[in-house]
Amino acid sequence: MTIVLSGYMGSGKSLIGNKLAQHLRLKFIDLDDEITSNQKMSIPEIFSEKGEIGFRKIEMEVLKRTLDTSKNIVLALGGGTPCYGTNINEIKNRKNTRLIYLKTDLEVLTERLFAEKDTRPLIKDIATKEELKDFIRKHLFERQHYYYQSDFTVDCSEAAPEEIVEHIIEKI
Ligand code: S3P
Repeated sequence: MTIVLSGYMGSGKSLIGNKLAQHLRLKFIDLDDEITSNQKMSIPEIFSEKGEIGFRKIEMEVLKRTLDTSKNIVLALGGGTPCYGTNINEIKNRKNTRLIYLKTDLEVLTERLFAEKDTRPLIKDIATKEELKDFIRKHLFERQHYYYQSDFTVDCSEAAPEEIVEHIIEKI
């Protein structure tokens, strides 16, 4: 089985994905890490050298290749992955694959992302917490159409990682 985790930046896809993979004895793959090792550049370097469009092309190729070559994995997407090109269909049309939306409140995302915004090219130049909150609110609104095409949604705003993992295991 392939389990694919989607959700906004800061929703805990990598943390939950790692724990879920350990529980299910599956391999964990983080798409951003795959992109980084494939390009031998960090995500911020790819954005500054190739722009967001360049990043999205690479992201699409690495997603396809990962789904083609790796089975029995938990795959954490980047926050934008399901929202571009044909990526969502690429995931949903595969057999034996579950797409899960890790949903997190605006308040929680704002707190988490304000603390680590410098490493994230899309939000690094946003100066204040209020501006960041406005950005996330609008961005989530644009992206939720894609996130809600997942097979199911798990609320990650308050639950501990272990509870979230148990909840996912019950539902898959
Ligand atoms: C992005 C999210 C990031 C990374 C890139 C773009 C996005 O991944 O892929 O900076 O468009 O939301 P995380 O969600 O793992 O931070």
